Amino acid sequence: MKQTRTELIRGLSLTAAVMIVAGSMIGSGIFRKPSTMAQQLGSPELLILVWIAAGLITLIGAFINAEMAGMFDDTGGQYIYFKKMYGDFTSYLYGWSILSVIQTGSQAAIAYVFAEYVGYFVNYFELPAAWQQFYFTIPLAGKIYPFFDFGTKSVAIAAIIFLTGINYIGVITGGSLQTVVTYIKIGIIVIFSLLLILLGNGSISNVYSGFQLPESTSRNLFSLIGLSFAGAFWAYDAWNNITFVSGEVKNANRNVPLGLLFGVLIVIGVYVLINIAYLYVMPISEMANSPLVAASAAEKVFGNFGGNLISLIVIISTFGALNGSILATARVPFAMSKSKLFFDSLGKVHPRFGTPHVSLIVQGIWSCVLVLSGTFDTITDYVMFASWLFYLLGAYGVFVMRKKFPDVKRPYKVWGYPYTPIIFLLFASYYLIATLTSDTENAMLGLILVFSGLPFYFYSKYRSKKL
Ligand code: ARG
Repeated sequence: MKQTRTELIRGLSLTAAVMIVAGSMIGSGIFRKPSTMAQQLGSPELLILVWIAAGLITLIGAFINAEMAGMFDDTGGQYIYFKKMYGDFTSYLYGWSILSVIQTGSQAAIAYVFAEYVGYFVNYFELPAAWQQFYFTIPLAGKIYPFFDFGTKSVAIAAIIFLTGINYIGVITGGSLQTVVTYIKIGIIVIFSLLLILLGNGSISNVYSGFQLPESTSRNLFSLIGLSFAGAFWAYDAWNNITFVSGEVKNANRNVPLGLLFGVLIVIGVYVLINIAYLYVMPISEMANSPLVAASAAEKVFGNFGGNLISLIVIISTFGALNGSILATARVPFAMSKSKLFFDSLGKVHPRFGTPHVSLIVQGIWSCVLVLSGTFDTITDYVMFASWLFYLLGAYGVFVMRKKFPDVKRPYKVWGYPYTPIIFLLFASYYLIATLTSDTENAMLGLILVFSGLPFYFYSKYRSKKL
């Protein structure tokens, strides 16, 4: 029987929802950031505390979105919540930022890390040095070398194209891939951490030694803690992606909130466990000097084989995170188009596969362009600034919504209201101010990208008035 689809398919179960949350969060960060954070903090107890605190703040964010997801189950998730909270203008800017920087930038960064680790097993072909020095100059972002690291970038692009293809042919294919890959990666990370603890010739005193802060840390405690949160937040980020696909989750008013809760709790557990394992096998000073912290820990216990093992884990982990992000993000421009704030074609549904195929392709192309731009560290920095700006607005929105729609049924209410959203607001402000002052250039670049969508906004408004 042939049927022509005009709507997206509600095909994702609760398990798929949990796996989209956890599987999009666990990506590159946990294998990279602990080392930088160890440098900043210098104390194992503090390191663990920051991971726990960042996890709890993330959990409040999840509660906030759970309340919204219980009320509205349309495709677009957070984009829709912003529309209800603040109207077209803010929600458009959010959707634009998701497509132009926040999600596509993240995809480029994650795909790049994926490709780097594939490079552990194969030798990449590189272009002649003269080509690699060719560059464009982009205002604020500086010089961009599209052909530099061309082998790595090609593999990153291939991964984006492949996963865009998988999600093009069906939300259930994408969702199943996500479930399988996430089970595997959570499983191996937990086993890996336990093996480090059981077989590693480590010491409990590396993990707990009575809370002594090094002098350099105690002097700037406040700002160092702020900086170290940036690393943890990158590792925890993407918890909100599930809301974008609300329109395709079965019984979404229940399963999206539960997916958020279980997903975030699982990831907090996994992250705290692996950090304890890292610390157990190497003292914090050594961790601070091992940028590839996971590989160094693995080598200590498994010798050379450890490097292969950890590369494989990172490949699987980033592959899953990339899939989760590609699957979820394409739903945002789709929803924008449906609400007449963006090009009509982005709102098309594939007649056979029932997926937002045009939206997927546009997102894929832009992510590939960002891979070529090659400014990955800058990308992660301005991505986080822009993301948190909207997390802040979203948290304030809980108060707005309780006023505006007091009578809409709320199957899940923010736990600890009003204190928890207030804590979240204070924290988000602190984090944004800390980034704005310590990393002004990237923060400004983030802001400029957010507002660069304005011309399209006025164009869409003008067009819809004319119709
Ligand atoms: N947590 C992911 C990682 O550690 C990165 C998430 C990127 N952010 C996003 N909104 N997709 O690799």
